[in-house]
Amino acid sequence: MPISTHDHDRLMLERAARRALRGHGEAEPNPSVGCVIADIDGQVIAEGRTRHPGGPHAEVEALRIAGIAARGGTAWVTLEPCNHHGRTPPCVDAIIAAGIARVVVGSPESNDFASGGMNRLRDAGIEVVLRPDVAAVRRLHASFHARVSTGLPWVVAKWAETDRGALKTPPGASPWISGPRSLRMVHRERGRTDAILTGIGTILADDPRLDARDVRQRRTPIRVVVDPDLATPPTASILNAGSGPVIIACREDDRDDLRARAEQLIATGATIMPIEASSELNPEDGGHGGLRGRFSTGRMRGLLRQLAKDHEVATLLTECGAGLLRNLFEADLVDATLVFTAPATSSKLKVEASVPRPRDLLQRASFETLWSGFRGDDRVVWSQRPS
Ligand SMILES: NC(=O)c1ccc[n+]([C@@H]2O[C@H](COP(=O)([O-])OP(=O)(O)OC[C@H]3O[C@@H](n4cnc5c(N)ncnc54)[C@H](OP(=O)(O)O)[C@@H]3O)[C@@H](O)[C@H]2O)c1
Repeated sequence: MPISTHDHDRLMLERAARRALRGHGEAEPNPSVGCVIADIDGQVIAEGRTRHPGGPHAEVEALRIAGIAARGGTAWVTLEPCNHHGRTPPCVDAIIAAGIARVVVGSPESNDFASGGMNRLRDAGIEVVLRPDVAAVRRLHASFHARVSTGLPWVVAKWAETDRGALKTPPGASPWISGPRSLRMVHRERGRTDAILTGIGTILADDPRLDARDVRQRRTPIRVVVDPDLATPPTASILNAGSGPVIIACREDDRDDLRARAEQLIATGATIMPIEASSELNPEDGGHGGLRGRFSTGRMRGLLRQLAKDHEVATLLTECGAGLLRNLFEADLVDATLVFTAPATSSKLKVEASVPRPRDLLQRASFETLWSGFRGDDRVVWSQRPS
């Protein structure tokens, strides 16, 4: 039985979304868009995805491959083709010039300055169909749409847990809960994210470097420590080993001892980022003003906003303990999770979990599972807030 145009369009948009996923960590802060092109007879002749900022967008890459065979054909694009001169010329111009007859769009553009592409194509006599019902495309662009509407980075909370949901190993034991294959996956993710966020608890307990090692890197993440009272030792590995800048986010305070500690940390090359307390008084942020030494919801939001605005952080991976994770969940600042669960046979399992456990908070958040599988003996689950 021949497939309907409706179903065929969905399949082609899913194919374009799969292509776009390969660009994770390369296209940001731009959305990683996918495009599939078929010729006038319906044969797929090209696929493309958005490259690094300033590189070709998905449509342009696919059109280059298709050449003159694109004339009279169909393009399936996960996001509305851009209609403005940014780092590259408008994609709508390339589509019109190539003589494409029909364009199927998976999601409207949410940046005002780039929108209007569908209207422009229609004005040029091209048939345009919007198909916002394809789940794979909705999930693909959830991060981009969220960033545009909130001005905050897309936050992926990563943790490794025992089968009881504990994040800590017993005192004196190795801090690693997950196995080497999981660790490799974490390093790959580090090399695809703009920033890695941790807490002072983790710095003092584990002394991590938090850089990407022995993997192909698409970007070098900024390493960010939430350290209200600047307790990070100047000898910490994060300051003295590994690549990528380090930002230490602290309270805004004029105390002499804090100023002296800031100077020591600056001397190691770190940037000190004081986060205003005033943002805690904003009831919209649900701030718990007055929490001494800790970052309230308002401060945490302020930190994320500042990272996005001043350091172009579009994606952020957390690698912290249960303390900071709990706060991020409660502040509704976690967008996606990457959880590694070690098998029940591991000797580290005797450790009791803190309450509430991050896995309970994740369950309450009702995230959708995007992918699950195994890395060695560890179960790995990627999930994301429902879009
Ligand atoms: N399994 C994993 O994936 C994983 C990953 C990382 C770490 N860990 C383990 O976690 C343990 C450390 O956990 P942790 O909870 O102490 O460390 P953490 O979450 O990395 O950092 C917590 C610290 O951050 C500061 N902070 C500031 N604002 C906060 C807020 N709003 N909410 C929570 N904390 C805030 C607090 O310092 P102030 O008290 O100065 O306010 C607090 O002590 C270690 O044993 C480490 O091995 C496990």
